[in-house]
Amino acid sequence: MYKVRDMFQINENYLKLQGSYLFSTIASKVAAYAAANPHREILRLGIGDVTLPLAPAVIKAMHGAVDEMARQETFRGYAPEHGYDFLREAISRVDYRSRGADIDPDEIFVSDGAKSDSGNIGDIFSTQNRIAVCDPVYPVYLDTNVMGGRTGFMNPADGRYEGVIYPPCTEENGFVPQLPEEAPDIIYLCFPNNPTGMTIPKAELQRWVDYALEHGSVIIYDAAYEAYIREDGIAHTIYECEGAKKCAIELRSFSKNAGFTGTRLGFTVVPRELRCGDVSLNDLWERRQSTKFNGAPYIVQRAGEAVYSEEGRRQTAEQVDYYMRNAACILEGLKSAGYTVYGGVNAPYIWLKTPGGMTSWEFFDHLLEEAAVVGTPGSGFGPAGEHFFRLTAFGSYENTKAAVERICRL
Ligand SMILES: Cc1ncc(COP(=O)(O)O)c(C=O)c1O
Repeated sequence: MYKVRDMFQINENYLKLQGSYLFSTIASKVAAYAAANPHREILRLGIGDVTLPLAPAVIKAMHGAVDEMARQETFRGYAPEHGYDFLREAISRVDYRSRGADIDPDEIFVSDGAKSDSGNIGDIFSTQNRIAVCDPVYPVYLDTNVMGGRTGFMNPADGRYEGVIYPPCTEENGFVPQLPEEAPDIIYLCFPNNPTGMTIPKAELQRWVDYALEHGSVIIYDAAYEAYIREDGIAHTIYECEGAKKCAIELRSFSKNAGFTGTRLGFTVVPRELRCGDVSLNDLWERRQSTKFNGAPYIVQRAGEAVYSEEGRRQTAEQVDYYMRNAACILEGLKSAGYTVYGGVNAPYIWLKTPGGMTSWEFFDHLLEEAAVVGTPGSGFGPAGEHFFRLTAFGSYENTKAAVERICRL
């Protein structure tokens, strides 16, 4: 007879997570509308995924790398866990040194994207740390900290997890989070921002860096939308701020600047100067990655290298320009129709205030029913997103223009 024992236990923190109903609710509402209106074309400005194909320079590099993998002499096996030198050097040169930020290749850790890095980075921090996330927020920062045990339960009354500091990003503060009175240990910042499409001036970001240095906090800075910055006075990397190498980790992605959402490539910068007492966070992250990650594919890293070539930079910049033309079309169209709109100048997201005090979901239903246009309810990104709505610039220009015309006719 087997001895009966107590069952294994799960990570109960997962049970604190709220169901992620946002995109599934959108999908089921859209499916119901499509079934009831089979002849009406639905225009989708909801999802944050790119639509243009990979740039020719990127495709050429991928084909070349595939051919290398086909020959005995040039075949590659496991990639270095932290990325090939050819890519780390290109990133260091173009993304950092050219902007006056002194980041070495060995401070750059190539990965399969910013979503996994933003979740995995929690591995190197104590579960006792108190986190701050902006409200509204890209939900991955919050949910991965819930999973990691860095929060209490969600309070259903206000939709917030216990123990988390939530600097609000509202119309009143211009969507610029204010420094919290109670200092968090780990601060997540994302600029240009998803979902608001807003940025903060470099001087304001410097205040966060100074605050982190003063209070012994670490900033996790997500710059996935850096390529969309158009205006002066906005930092392209947090390392443009003085002292940031002592307090900040930066996450970057090839998804939105070069269309790699399905190809998968990103990187995280952990400066050697970033320390907790005697311990180097660069060493910890190196250890974490070499233990749990086996490197991004060679073919994809060659594709990433091509993004930094002269041709690749020109072609990917044209793609970003294409999306930003859509953003301008949405902004101008909605403004002229009397909507209050934010974002869309340095980011592919437009954050619009719902008209007539409608809730985010009421506006979603209204837009779908009356215009067959799909967007994302702002409340899905946090309580402060209520009464706002996110539209994305990642569709075709024709569809974007048609969607704007329909919204304007409402
Ligand atoms: C703010 C932000 N960070 C990270 C990501 C994910 O990037 P990746 O495709 O590199 O995982 C997204 C994707 O939408 C995002 O909006």
